[in-house]
Amino acid sequence: MPIFLPEPTLINFILYGAFTVLALSMGPFDYFGPMPMRYSKFRGEKGIFSRAGMFFLYFIPLLAALGFSIPYLTHPSLPQTILLLALLGHFAKRCLEVLFLHKYSGPMDFLTALSIAGFYSLVAAGTSSLNAAALDHPDGWFWLGTILFAAGETLNFWHHKLLADQRGNSREYVIPRGGLFGWVACPHYLFELLAWLGIALISRHLFVYISFVGMFGYLLARSLKTLAWYRAKFPDFPKERKALIPWLI
Ligand SMILES: NC(=O)c1ccc[n+]([C@@H]2O[C@H](COP(=O)([O-])OP(=O)(O)OC[C@H]3O[C@@H](n4cnc5c(N)ncnc54)[C@H](OP(=O)(O)O)[C@@H]3O)[C@@H](O)[C@H]2O)c1
Repeated sequence: MPIFLPEPTLINFILYGAFTVLALSMGPFDYFGPMPMRYSKFRGEKGIFSRAGMFFLYFIPLLAALGFSIPYLTHPSLPQTILLLALLGHFAKRCLEVLFLHKYSGPMDFLTALSIAGFYSLVAAGTSSLNAAALDHPDGWFWLGTILFAAGETLNFWHHKLLADQRGNSREYVIPRGGLFGWVACPHYLFELLAWLGIALISRHLFVYISFVGMFGYLLARSLKTLAWYRAKFPDFPKERKALIPWLI
C-alpha cells in the first residue's frame, strides 16, 4: 500500500514534527489534565451554548476543506472527488447532527470550542490541500477506505440517535443501551475512528495518518474518562463494559 510522504525538506520536517506533537498530545493532555476539553460530561458550570459552539467547530473546518479544494475543484479526478465528498460529508453530517439530533444538557467552554475548531480546521485544510496530489487511480485499499468511511459514518450516526432517543425529553444522563453500547461506553467514538481510518486509506497521505493516530489517542482518553464517569455515577453500570474496543479496552 503506497503512502505519500512529504518532500524531505527542513520546512516539512518542522511542520510535520510540530503537527505530530500536537496530534499526539491531545489524548494525554485531556486525560491527565493539563488541557481537558470542557464539554458534555466534563463541562464546567459556565460557557457558551453547546449547540452554537459545536456547530462553529464543525462548520469552520467544512469551509476550510472547501476553500483548500479550489485548485482542483473544477476538474477533480475520481479519487479527488471521493475524498472531498467524504471530508465535506463528514463535517456536514456533524453540523446537521449538532443542529437537529443531539440533545445537550448544558454549556461548553469557549476556549474548548476554539481549540477543537483549530485542530479540525488544520486537519480539514491539510487533507483537502494534499488531495491536489491524489492517487492516479483507485486501488483496493482506496475502495476498502470508502467502505470503512461509509460504514463508520452510518454506525456513528446510529449510536448518536440511540443516545438522543434514550434521553427523550429529559436532560438526564442514562446508561445507554442498544447497538454496541452493550459492549463499550463509546461505540460512537469507535465508528468515528473507523470513518477517519477510511479517509486515511482514501487519501494515503502521511498527514492524514498522523491525524488519525491523534484522534485515536484523544478518543481513547475520552472514552476511558467516560467509562470511569459512568461507573462513578451509576453503581449498576455493567462491569464487563469496556471503554472503546469490545473485549479489549
Ligand atoms: N474526530 C475526533 O477527534 C472527535 C472527537 C470528539 C468527538 N467527535 C465526534 O463527535 C461525536 C460526539 O462526541 P461527544 O464527545 O460530544 O459525545 P458525547 O459526550 O457522547 O455526547 C453526544 C450527545 O449525547 C448526549 N449524551 C452523552 N451521553 C449521554 C447519556 N449517557 N445519556 C443521555 N445523553 C447522553 C450528549 O449530551 P450532553 O452534552 O448533555 O453530555 C450529547 O448531546 C462523536 O461521536 C464523534 O462523532 C470526534
